[in-house]
Amino acid sequence: MAANPIIWPTRLFITGTDTGVGKTMVSAILMMGLNGSYWKPIQSGLEEITDTEWVQGKTGIPKERVFPETYRLQRPLSPHASAKHEGVRIDLEAFHLPDVDPSHHLIVEGAGGIMVPLNEQHLMLDLMKKLQLPILLVARGSLGTINHTLLSLEQLRRHNLDILGVVMNGEKNPDNRQAIEYYGNTQVLAELEPLPELTIRSLKEAFLKYF
Ligand SMILES: Nc1ncnc2c1ncn2[C@@H]1O[C@H](COP(=O)(O)OP(=O)(O)O)[C@@H](O)[C@H]1O
Ligand SMILES: [Mg+2]
Repeated sequence: MAANPIIWPTRLFITGTDTGVGKTMVSAILMMGLNGSYWKPIQSGLEEITDTEWVQGKTGIPKERVFPETYRLQRPLSPHASAKHEGVRIDLEAFHLPDVDPSHHLIVEGAGGIMVPLNEQHLMLDLMKKLQLPILLVARGSLGTINHTLLSLEQLRRHNLDILGVVMNGEKNPDNRQAIEYYGNTQVLAELEPLPELTIRSLKEAFLKYF
């Protein structure tokens, strides 16, 4: 459990230092723990199970608490490239935060990391600036994470985004945690370890254990 109880904002944007770092996993755990709703504004890649389908399947939350993606793009590429393949231009104006009861939690999951391009002009960062939600940064636990995490934090700060903290995912690494907190001047909210099974119950338990 974190040293101080986490005050969870009712709106939260989950980004990561990379793709495959655990954003969807953390989203699912928070969905269970906070009884929230989920929105993935841009899904790049439709051949495999989408993040929205995965979250819904694993958490078993009712369909009305999962909002449709604004852009569903076929190829598993950076959004700008995937959109271009289908002759689509991702338009920042198209994104509108779902209308959820203000007392209810809404978890928004980005695609890739902060500097992923959306079109010839905008990055994921610009969508984050538009939405103005507190940011939770998911990072790996392993070697290389300090650099990626500090770079991401620096960029968020440069753009005056509100950082809730970092979740480290993978085998625990206390030295990396300490370095991220010290050099990144932030709080590591949780060190999520590999979960042996993924069920509604284990996701709920993970929330109670790690957050
Ligand atoms: N703590 C964990 N325990 C078990 N599997 C995990 C954990 N974190 C991530 N995974 C698995 O690793 C893969 C990538 O994670 P995912 O959450 O989809 O990353 P992202 O959303 O950042 O691309 C998925 O198959 C996911 O189920
Ligand atoms: Mg994901």
